[in-house]
Amino acid sequence: MISNKGRALIRICPSILNADRANLGSEILRVSNESDLIHLDVMDNIFVPNFTFSLEDSRRIIGQTPIPVDAHLMINNPDQDAAHYAKAGAKSVTFHLEASQQPEVTSQLIRSEGARVGIAIKPKTAFSSLAPLLELVDMVLIMTVEPGFGGQSFMEDMMPKVREARAEIDRKHFGKIWLQVDGGISLETIDVASSAGADTFVAGSAVFKAENPGDMVNLLRAKASKQ
Ligand code: DX5
Ligand code: ZN
Repeated sequence: MISNKGRALIRICPSILNADRANLGSEILRVSNESDLIHLDVMDNIFVPNFTFSLEDSRRIIGQTPIPVDAHLMINNPDQDAAHYAKAGAKSVTFHLEASQQPEVTSQLIRSEGARVGIAIKPKTAFSSLAPLLELVDMVLIMTVEPGFGGQSFMEDMMPKVREARAEIDRKHFGKIWLQVDGGISLETIDVASSAGADTFVAGSAVFKAENPGDMVNLLRAKASKQ
């Protein structure tokens, strides 16, 4: 790996959105040894047309997950609620720029609870609206589907945005910010996203629909690492 400026580390974050909800504890254990973080999709049925986990549910899930939790908040009022997820023990808390009136304050609140700060942008949001906030964040999340549901097709047309984010992160922050992609990541698409500069990958259906989810995490990591 030559010009990746410290980006050799690949992180795989299985999303439990489409795992077996009735047996979440054991579903999580199927991938815990192989994964870096468990991705928890919190949807409020306002910011996106779907509801997943309440704050109470999230607390319980974080409590029963043996590896760090990456909370992705698709909620309408992150300025009010994001810090609760950090307080609940999520290692990383990502909120949507489109939903926040005060991203600086919200980032500081998350950090003051000891979590990493992530800011996400939807497919129609340009990277230029997030670029001025890079000083605040530990992770940038470029959505590669419209948020709301698992199992959608990967939007390859987001790759210029990923490349733009990679260039800006490397130019100013030397790879210390993680660059995450979320939506439609599979063995068919992860190499495209990795070559564009992503280093942190959410995968829901690809992992939990596999016969052996743990093996699938390893395969995804191997594929992403080859880029
Ligand atoms: C979509 C969620 C994703 C979703 C990914 O709004 O943010 O994390 O679970 O699922 P797949 O990998 O099936 O696209
Ligand atoms: Zn997500």
